[in-house]
Amino acid sequence: MSRPILEVRGLAVTYGGAVEALRGIDLTVERGHVVALLGSNGAGKTTLLRALSGTLRLHRARVDAGTITYDGTDITRAETARTVAAGLVQVPEGRRIFTRLTVEENLRAGGLGTRDRAAREAAHARVLELFPVLAQRRHQRAGLLSGGEQQMLAIGRGLMAGPQLLLLDEPSLGLAPRVIGQIGEVVREIHAQGTSVLLVEQNAAMALGVADEAFVLDVGRVSLAGPAAELAQSDAVQRLYLGHGSEHGAGAPDAAEPARPRRTLSRWTA
Ligand SMILES: Nc1ncnc2c1ncn2[C@@H]1O[C@H](COP(=O)(O)OP(=O)(O)O)[C@@H](O)[C@H]1O
Ligand SMILES: [Mg+2]
Repeated sequence: MSRPILEVRGLAVTYGGAVEALRGIDLTVERGHVVALLGSNGAGKTTLLRALSGTLRLHRARVDAGTITYDGTDITRAETARTVAAGLVQVPEGRRIFTRLTVEENLRAGGLGTRDRAAREAAHARVLELFPVLAQRRHQRAGLLSGGEQQMLAIGRGLMAGPQLLLLDEPSLGLAPRVIGQIGEVVREIHAQGTSVLLVEQNAAMALGVADEAFVLDVGRVSLAGPAAELAQSDAVQRLYLGHGSEHGAGAPDAAEPARPRRTLSRWTA
């Protein structure tokens, strides 16, 4: 097997030199795979993506221990410009598109770091093909798009940088079920075109439906890891994330249930 596109070993991250957000994180993304990263609010999912994309310092955080290896190169504490140029691209939480610019201008902004003009134009064509709605609305202001369309634009802007590994931070957040299904389809298509994806989600059903492997973060640690299909069948994930057998019915990750039962699946405990 070829070497993994991403290997995280023993990663620890703290905010402000005090608040420990991640401890002993081990996580692998095989080349060409979609990996889901699940976990409740505050579990550390965004922090892990910040560590991967070299943006921790913007949030007064730092890597305290461990290593991040991307495509065989150590990128622990690397500058963002370097990792983006190497094809590690993050689509941040909360979309962060430029609402006063047009759809086209937002997309072009995503390609600014790409010097190769032909590669940039190929990425642009690929994005318009993947998202016909963005092609139709190219000259409209991005602020006029629906929430789902804005998320498509945020993903499209990320694709403009020509990623080898795309990091998506909760793309389904706040979207209607039908639109969440479309986001899942988009992830499938991006994967089918050869891009590896690390998909952070609270929507476990969607994420496990498109992922090859999955990891569950629980208060800064990996509590479960394994093939996505197996995790979807596990009691712990069913109860806590898929809304089956929960006393609270909704199965929301924040349901006021004790966190203890999460570690019952010892075989997958990292
Ligand atoms: N900028 C920050 N400063 C201090 N603590 C933070 C900051 N961002 C996140 N944290 C803390 O780090 C932990 C993980 O947060 P986060 O990575 O945002 O979780 P998730 O994305 O899984 O919801 C939480 O305890 C959160 O309060
Ligand atoms: Mg988050």
